[in-house]
Amino acid sequence: MCGIVGIVSSKEFPVRGELLARLKKLEYRGYDSVGFATSEGLVMRGVGELSKFIVRVPAELEAKAAISHTRWATHGGVTEANAHPHSDCEGKLFIVHNGIIENYEELRKGLEKLGHCFETETDSEVIAHLLEERLKRGGMKSALMSLIREAKGTFAVLALRKGEERIYAAKRDSPLALGIAKGGFILGSDIYAFSDATDKAVFFDDDEIAVVDAKGYEFFDAAGKPVRKKVTRFKWARQEEAGHGHAHYMIKEIHEQPLAAERLIRSLETEQAKKVGKLVGMMRRAKRVVLVAAGTSYFAALLGVYFLNRQNVMAHTLIASEFENYVYVDKSTLVIAVSQSGETMDVVSALKFAKKRGAKIAAIVNVPHSTVQRMSEVSLEMMAGQEVCVAATKTFTNQVIAMLFLASKFGFHANFESLPLQIEKTIAANEGKAKALAKELKGRNDVYIIGRGISYPSAREFAHKLKEIAYVHAEGMMGGELKHGTLALVEKGTPVFSLMPAGDVDIVSNTKEVEARGGRVIRISTATDSDFSIPAENGGVFAILSVVIGQLLAYHIAKERGLPIDKPRNLAKSVTVK
Ligand code: AGP
Repeated sequence: MCGIVGIVSSKEFPVRGELLARLKKLEYRGYDSVGFATSEGLVMRGVGELSKFIVRVPAELEAKAAISHTRWATHGGVTEANAHPHSDCEGKLFIVHNGIIENYEELRKGLEKLGHCFETETDSEVIAHLLEERLKRGGMKSALMSLIREAKGTFAVLALRKGEERIYAAKRDSPLALGIAKGGFILGSDIYAFSDATDKAVFFDDDEIAVVDAKGYEFFDAAGKPVRKKVTRFKWARQEEAGHGHAHYMIKEIHEQPLAAERLIRSLETEQAKKVGKLVGMMRRAKRVVLVAAGTSYFAALLGVYFLNRQNVMAHTLIASEFENYVYVDKSTLVIAVSQSGETMDVVSALKFAKKRGAKIAAIVNVPHSTVQRMSEVSLEMMAGQEVCVAATKTFTNQVIAMLFLASKFGFHANFESLPLQIEKTIAANEGKAKALAKELKGRNDVYIIGRGISYPSAREFAHKLKEIAYVHAEGMMGGELKHGTLALVEKGTPVFSLMPAGDVDIVSNTKEVEARGGRVIRISTATDSDFSIPAENGGVFAILSVVIGQLLAYHIAKERGLPIDKPRNLAKSVTVK
């Protein structure tokens, strides 16, 4: 994972106020450690979040070229030594890397035999030494060509040589973009890094190299042949960094849901109507529709399957990381990726696999111009705006709305007009209750959430929120499956949430089975006397609103527990490694 940013400029820029301020925008990609290197050869690294590190960086420090990195640890512990940038033996070449060099042990052994000394436990350091070694035979371009040839795995790499105001870049699978700004260029893992400075970007394709200085840029393919690149103009809503009036981004984003929902519905009915038509056409022509996603997006996809199957569209879904193993795709399959970031490596890999098998590719994404969007023939945008908190809230809701909207074209009933207001009412009527219940549950470590049919994916997402934000071991499961084993864990006082859409008589029985064993049942239903009452007139709406309760509860339990809500431990918002 990790985020990388590099800047080359004709004028000196402040490292703290410019380079690190841009890196902060990529902190959602990882926040284990941080570091930068300037073309003067100054390197600083630190463990933990950028806000702790930045105060150590002199405000007056300037550079004309610099690279930086925010890390989500994969190989090697969270230590200052393992923080990027890494350098060659002489301290004259620095690299930052996002991705995983799969054959790093083999490369490292070979380089050690040639006398290279390694100082970290990371896979990334091998890049610096490999470039150093290959530079003995030629220039940086050919050294990067060697990297592309010799390294297995994924990488977006920025390299800087001491004394040169120039950045070298190469990428495979991990995302990398070049922003064309006034007076210079900004390289970043995605457009967030420079969306406030320019609306013009060049996206790297796999196995491409770029050489960038203040005057211009050149792209080359793996064989060193120049490549003409398209400049893309992008539109992206900027996110204010502070002053949003909420204690955390998570609660801000929960409250943004009515607006985000309305924006998406309007857009699907107007500016995105053509794309909706195209996607629906592709769905009609396909023999089967397979949705692919990870984490929260998978639960939204699961709801999509429910909606579509009800309308006799043959639909399946599978967690992206197991896609190749458990799903059959061929030329007659339409694969729809569902992804907030559009950069999740598991999803990208699944799409590559599907493409190879001849399947058609479409997507529902939040971040425009992301890798997934660029791989897709047609792509709907979620229009949720930037989501900063690691936990998905408003993007989940909008993913489900997008699914409902597609299903409605096949006859699934949903009232889109009233949905934003219903979300608003749900939050208003239940936030106080969630706060109160959070006080009661803050000491509990095992919680169950049961749902059947349309409520089952919501039960899973409800549990997912409790796990990642409140660190509660929560299991979201099929209500009917409880009695086949898990019921053994229910004892006096065990909290069990029951998602009870109107008319679901079987969940009523499952709930009673829990109650009979002394479980502490918390009912979420449309009945006004339930623990959490939601104004859902149909199943699709119920599925969304019941998750909103889970979001509120996870937030307030985490708050009670004093947890780092927007940046939970060990996680990152965009997971760009397998
Ligand atoms: C959501 O709360 C999680 N942070 C995580 O499960 C996320 O949904 C998953 O990593 C998929 O991300 P994507 O939607 O950007 O592909």
